[in-house]
Amino acid sequence: MSSNTLKLLSLVISAFAIVKIAMAGDPDILTDYIVPQGVSAIDGNFFTYTSFRPIVLGTPQPTAFKVTKASMVEFPALNGQSVSYAALQFPGGSVNPPHTHPRSAELLLVCQGSLQVGFVDTTNKLYTQKLQEGDMFIFPKGLVHFQYNADPKTSALAISAFGSANAGTVSIPSTLFNTSIDDNVLALSFKTDIATIQSLKKNFAA
Ligand SMILES: *[C@@H]1O[C@H](CO)[C@@H](O)[C@H](O)[C@H]1NC(C)=O
Repeated sequence: MSSNTLKLLSLVISAFAIVKIAMAGDPDILTDYIVPQGVSAIDGNFFTYTSFRPIVLGTPQPTAFKVTKASMVEFPALNGQSVSYAALQFPGGSVNPPHTHPRSAELLLVCQGSLQVGFVDTTNKLYTQKLQEGDMFIFPKGLVHFQYNADPKTSALAISAFGSANAGTVSIPSTLFNTSIDDNVLALSFKTDIATIQSLKKNFAA
């Protein structure tokens, strides 16, 4: 093979690799929708989810940060449709701690109040923004991000859309300090001592 042929071949191969990456997401289904096993007759109710009603009405207001999901777990008709929502309620001064969604980007819309948001990309660069009512922000797939209602007096409400029926959430604080990762591993990783790690873990104990 000439070196030009080789170059062309490697271009084609890398183009295929890029297409494969771009298509990584929920699997396509070969039916219009998926009816769960054991469910025999469905009607419009199967495609309807009403658990966001009280959130949109604003009653009751939670006293701590609260996520209400509409993923395929809560709303089975989403199975196979590659979409889902989450409603995020922030009392004044509350935070949604740093976390990732392994299977989807997140498109957040601020419906009430204001939010400070940010994510860190794979070069460790932080991107932040102050969002007002009506603003949207996109958190790229898999990257660590957070949202914070810096206003101590006004609550905030955001609705997030996901390109997966089951985006998944990995909370960074819980993953590190509310599992049984060895104290020594964490102390070395955070360049600190075991006592500091144990004190962080204590705050998560059930
Ligand atoms: C820590 O994990 C336990 C067991 O999974 C859970 O019950 C508890 O709520 C978690 N604590 C926090 C603060 O997330």
